Amino acid sequence: MRNRRIVIGVTGGIAAYKAPLVVRRLVAAGADVDVVLTRGGARFVGAATFEGLTGRAVRSEVWDAVEEETHVALARHADVVAVYPATAHTMARAASGLADDLLTTTLLATTAPVVMAPAMHTEMWEHPATRANAAVLRERGVALVGPAEGALMGGDVGAGRAVEPDAFVAAVVAALGQDRETPVGGVPDLEVVADPDEQPWAGRRVVVTAGGTREPIDPVRWLGNRSTGRMGIAIAAAAARRGADVDLVIAGSELPTPPGVTRVEVTTASEMHEQVLARADADVVVKAAAVADFRPADVAQRKLKKADGTPTLSLVPNPDILADLGRRRAEGGGGPTVLVGFAAETDDPVANGRDKLARKQADLLVVNDLTATGAGFGHDTNEVVILAADGSRTDVALTSKDEVADRLLDVVDVRLAAADPAPSREPAPGR
Ligand SMILES: Cc1cc2nc3c(=O)[nH]c(=O)nc-3n(C[C@H](O)[C@H](O)[C@H](O)COP(=O)(O)O)c2cc1C
Repeated sequence: MRNRRIVIGVTGGIAAYKAPLVVRRLVAAGADVDVVLTRGGARFVGAATFEGLTGRAVRSEVWDAVEEETHVALARHADVVAVYPATAHTMARAASGLADDLLTTTLLATTAPVVMAPAMHTEMWEHPATRANAAVLRERGVALVGPAEGALMGGDVGAGRAVEPDAFVAAVVAALGQDRETPVGGVPDLEVVADPDEQPWAGRRVVVTAGGTREPIDPVRWLGNRSTGRMGIAIAAAAARRGADVDLVIAGSELPTPPGVTRVEVTTASEMHEQVLARADADVVVKAAAVADFRPADVAQRKLKKADGTPTLSLVPNPDILADLGRRRAEGGGGPTVLVGFAAETDDPVANGRDKLARKQADLLVVNDLTATGAGFGHDTNEVVILAADGSRTDVALTSKDEVADRLLDVVDVRLAAADPAPSREPAPGR
């Protein structure tokens, strides 16, 4: 990379916080890196960060250092112009040939290969305008790297996440090998290939339950709960990132399925029980769903009407999925290597959690204190205690549900490795 000149445009997307890592890696590899910040980009990361990393001035406008004709100089000397992250707005400007700031002017003036990492919410990425802009850019030879699927701003999950800095740097390095003249007619998008060493759970089968079951009262009403499915989805996503084959048995959640995860949609506790028990021989079962303990004894076939008077609901107990899994395994009937339950508690969470862990014959129990600020239903964050059957505990202070998921899987990993240190690398049947 020595003596290679790379211009990195940083635009106003949340993923701009990862742009300094891209710059740092390129500088460390010996490249001369010039950072061009859009006005949006400068709202997320300060010029001083990039100036400290590169030892070079950061510019934003064509009006900065006019005597140096910055846009022409940058465009002419660049071996690659890379944009990380690329917002929908900057992609639109580039596709339209606008030149309203230093980055778009440089993009218009350069003949060097151009690499962009689109990053935005799924709705923006899937909008016909953005799709058309992406197609125009590809047609002109711009390599679009990603976007990846995964966690987005505000707790959303889906397509639109910026590829990670290392994958982008690899794409920039690949572009350095291209001819200087931008090839017209389309460059294939660069795929992000997962490193097998980062897939320690390849060959493992994981079942995660998420969401809240719904127990019908009549054709339009149900008994439900406030679970959104976020915690279970974060666990399923984390397991898939580790390379596992993941089935997500989910009820009552509108949230999208993370990449690499198979979704099994259910409604009631009985349906969830059936689907989970059918998959009980997995390496890991995590029961993160909020499952109704009771259901109406009778489901009215027609909508209950006010005119018919106030109905009386009589309830019957639902099957206990965690207890059935634990019992079956204890009786030698097969079951997961690691069985994890969740408990949402409002009083004396740890004592109640220990009691539940023992009763259900699980290996781990994740206890949510519903009275803690920012924890439990509907939040992007959670604060939990992971209790283990061997008496140990792991406290996870308030953090994102993604981080909680990873910490939980680290605890699971220790038990998996002890039980079966070398999982088969063959994919599960049918995958
Ligand atoms: C907190 C925050 C996060 C944003 N994240 C994104 C994003 O990830 N992708 C995107 O296309 N726009 C995002 N936007 C909107 C852009 O900042 C906005 O469209 C801006 O005009 C982009 O300008 P630029 O492309 O010139 O930097 C975000 C805005 C805010 C306030």
